[in-house]
Amino acid sequence: GNKLKTVPPGLLTPTPELKKLNLAENRMTDLPSGLLAGLSSLDTLYLQHNSLQTIPEGFFGDLLLPFVFLHSNPWFCSCEILYFRHWLQNNPNSVYLWKEGEDNKAMTPNVTSVRCANSNKVPVYEFPAKDCPIHGDGDAIYDYDDYRGEDTESNKVRATSTVVTTALITHWGLLYSQSTASIDSQMSSLHPVQ
Ligand SMILES: *[C@@H]1O[C@H](CO)[C@@H](O)[C@H](O)[C@H]1NC(C)=O
Repeated sequence: GNKLKTVPPGLLTPTPELKKLNLAENRMTDLPSGLLAGLSSLDTLYLQHNSLQTIPEGFFGDLLLPFVFLHSNPWFCSCEILYFRHWLQNNPNSVYLWKEGEDNKAMTPNVTSVRCANSNKVPVYEFPAKDCPIHGDGDAIYDYDDYRGEDTESNKVRATSTVVTTALITHWGLLYSQSTASIDSQMSSLHPVQ
């Protein structure tokens, strides 16, 4: 509830035990991509009511974040939002709609609350991502289900980005398997409700 537009990238490096980060109701337009790096105890992130249009690639790293509030931001749905869309698709039960006066644990997850400001206001996790560059040959971690491939302009873009995206797939494949492993290893110690 201040007027913050962004925060410095290394802001939280001195506080690795941080459990809750509340940046809600500010004027945030950008998030530093490494802001949450190393915050392995973080369990709640409030980002609702800001001016965020996207989440930087890699922002959530392999954190297991049970409570995240992302609604009421002007999310701009384009090919740039695919990292965020993919994270939402994998973490739908962590995304909550803030209800005044209620404890987190009394709320129900609502991933539908995170909506595109453009694109008919569809929920970000359902953004169709038509004509986005295709990543490699089928082992892409993002899901390009609606791609049709008849648009010559996007074919040109696709051809020039293949080299870059191959590197990204390798990178994300690695992060993804780490995050799966960390869920498995932490699951047994969690209370069933969590
Ligand atoms: C989820 O949030 C949307 C508003 O963004 C609301 O329309 C919908 O009813 C909510 N769903 C549930 C199950 O609370």
